[in-house]
Amino acid sequence: MLSQKLQDGLNGQLNFELYSAYVYLSMANYLESLNLKGMAHWMDLQAREELEHAGKFITHINDRGGRVLLRQIDGPKTEWKSPLEAFEEAYRHECEVSARINGLVDLSINEKDHAANAFLQWFVTEQVEEEANVLDIVEKLKMVGDRTTGLFMIDRELSKRGEA
Ligand SMILES: [Fe+2]
Ligand SMILES: [Fe+2]
Repeated sequence: MLSQKLQDGLNGQLNFELYSAYVYLSMANYLESLNLKGMAHWMDLQAREELEHAGKFITHINDRGGRVLLRQIDGPKTEWKSPLEAFEEAYRHECEVSARINGLVDLSINEKDHAANAFLQWFVTEQVEEEANVLDIVEKLKMVGDRTTGLFMIDRELSKRGEA
């Protein structure tokens, strides 16, 4: 059985995963508006991954006899100055997610909830990859700057991302 504090924390993260999907879907459509279809495809898959993360929280809360409580999801930003700005924001967003996951791990330790702790460890590992993947794209976008050829090369590379 989940403690009230952990149930609240896990529900909070469930909402944040859904919000993350919303943010990335918004970025995908911004990139689509620039006709950068490869980048849009990458962001779209990123959004789907966030929905899967939300699903994992739902399963864990239910499996533990807790109650899933869906709350209002904040509206995401809709405009960015450049693809670089959007991916930089995605990177900062992932760092924020990591901080929130770490906070939940701390809470699971304080509540002596080993099952929640084990569940959250998957996300600890996942966040290392999440941060690294976006940071890699940010670095590449910085390298090409305003050069259109470079931008299209990155766009083509990102179009190859498959379902995780
Ligand atoms: Fe996530
Ligand atoms: Fe993520």
